[in-house]
Amino acid sequence: MENQLDQKKRIAAEKAVEWIEDGMLIGLGSGSTVYWFIRKLAERVHDGLRIQGIPSSKRTEQWADEMGIPLTDFSKTDRLDLAIDGADEVDPKLNLIKGGGGSLLREKLVNQVADKLIIIVDDSKAVLQLGQFPLPVEVVPFAWQTTVNRLRELGVEPRLRMDGARPFVSNNQNYIFDCAFQTIRDPQALHRELKQVLGVVETGLFLNMADLVLIGSEQGVQQLK
Ligand code: 5RP
Repeated sequence: MENQLDQKKRIAAEKAVEWIEDGMLIGLGSGSTVYWFIRKLAERVHDGLRIQGIPSSKRTEQWADEMGIPLTDFSKTDRLDLAIDGADEVDPKLNLIKGGGGSLLREKLVNQVADKLIIIVDDSKAVLQLGQFPLPVEVVPFAWQTTVNRLRELGVEPRLRMDGARPFVSNNQNYIFDCAFQTIRDPQALHRELKQVLGVVETGLFLNMADLVLIGSEQGVQQLK
């Protein structure tokens, strides 16, 4: 039976399908909430909706393939009509922490070329200030120890994400460091500071990107604009 958390994710994800129109090019985000979106989108595709998607992770690509969603890539287009993605935290200004699943770089590359970005979350992700969720930072594996030293000098506490006994490797063959902050008072400044560290590829701070957040709760789906 569906648990309450899955139900909240599913209703937010299914609501997002209302923004899809025939002929659209759609960025397909990553994560368990996006899974519900892909399922619903596949139903619409089987009913005759003509869209093409660009997945932001290998897992999403696999789901889309299995469910019969037509895919394209950036050799065919450099823009998208819409992107739908999940998030780990959302603040009232629609700033996000993403990368809990380790796909932050591809997600950012996909989301930044979409005319509109809709984020789908359950209500546990809505926070007043970002930072409770450890910030994922993607780092080049070569000389990662020196990159981590630079991050520590900035007062950051990076923890290498593991996959069993080995470091977790992203879809781009990089490492992810989860950085505990508790609260992030100035997300813009932190993002700028982290990006200046040699070896840092990208941070999980997605700032001024989302246009709409759909939040699934016991009361239904709330919209944050
Ligand atoms: C992956 C992501 C996901 O969108 C984020 O972790 C949310 O996932 P879920 O819907 O499973 O909670 O950023 O890198």
